Amino acid sequence: MPSLSPLHQRLAQQLAQRETTGTRRRLTQVAAGLVDFSSNDYLGLSCHPAVRTALQQATAEPAGSTGSRLLTGNSAAAESLETHLAQFHRVEAALLFNSGYAANMGFFSAVPRRGDTILYDEASHASVKDGIRSSFATAWSFRHNDLADLERRLARATGAVFVAVEALYSMDGDMAPLPELATFCRERGLYLVVDEAHSNGIYGLCGEGLVAALGLEVDTFARILTFGKALGSQGAAVAGSAVLRDYLLNFSRPFIYTTALPPLTVAGLAAAYHVLPDLTLEREQLFELSAYLKRTLNAVSGLRVPLESHIIHPVFFPNNPGPEAVRRIAAAAQQAGFDVRAIVSPTVPVGTERLRLIVHSYNTKEEVNGLAAVLGRQ
Ligand SMILES: Cc1ncc(COP(=O)(O)O)c(C=O)c1O
Repeated sequence: MPSLSPLHQRLAQQLAQRETTGTRRRLTQVAAGLVDFSSNDYLGLSCHPAVRTALQQATAEPAGSTGSRLLTGNSAAAESLETHLAQFHRVEAALLFNSGYAANMGFFSAVPRRGDTILYDEASHASVKDGIRSSFATAWSFRHNDLADLERRLARATGAVFVAVEALYSMDGDMAPLPELATFCRERGLYLVVDEAHSNGIYGLCGEGLVAALGLEVDTFARILTFGKALGSQGAAVAGSAVLRDYLLNFSRPFIYTTALPPLTVAGLAAAYHVLPDLTLEREQLFELSAYLKRTLNAVSGLRVPLESHIIHPVFFPNNPGPEAVRRIAAAAQQAGFDVRAIVSPTVPVGTERLRLIVHSYNTKEEVNGLAAVLGRQ
């Protein structure tokens, strides 16, 4: 075998380092047919018959969009989806991106400029942090959901000030105090940016998301709506004013320099948005089951699920047993028929390794009971 180049040696050392801390990532495939407590398909829309039918009907479309939106990749269907998104989410305009990651990169790299300030919740998603890193604005994190700390950080802020939060946090399942944040930002002339990745489709009478459900549309400068979770597909949009949309399509590099979403995805998204208002019962089941899961797991000796989590539930074990132990517990649950995943550092802070359970409208109380029994034996 040829000897490793110095660069390969460096890469291998970093992997070995992860191995020793039990945090090395690997692609895994869990067996088919397990009870789903892991996917982001909260409402089962990825397999909804109406969405599948729309996809079948769209198979005559070209396989790809053939270019960026500003060149050959634009279509009447993409523009009509954006118009629908704006109406549905009660906002002036929306611009499609290829993923939530690209939407966050696209917003934060382009809108805040040198001399501006971004104050972001420390629990923000990696895509928000990466977008901020590629911005010329100054950025500080504030303690999770802590308005007093936000106020302290504000003292040093200059220029236009952006406050970045998630409606529902992706790892802890808790909500941002959006009404308080909206008032805070309104009173001080700050620009509130809300990532609705995990709340879009779930909150609001028709699934319009948490900002709209709380009537905070006017207080929010921009919303990041993603489609890989409750919408069961992929892609995202930045929703805000018409000026913001026009600005992004002129200056946001993750929008400009990439091939647009394929027609099939756009057709599937239009169908998923069409179905969304009818899923009231599914949303209610989701909330009911979510509360049931918290009660049931918290009744198992040694397990702790924070009371403030919604639909995403971290499960903590006594004395933080560490990444390897949490991975073993996830593997045991998988053996017993439950698709359950461990989340370890650096995705979450060291010492907060946990199982991350996601509840779906199609899960049942019996499944929750079964999982509780398995976890209770670990
Ligand atoms: C809060 C949050 N924002 C953005 C993203 C990225 O979305 P996407 O998977 O569409 O790239 C995720 C996905 O994990 C997320 O949880």
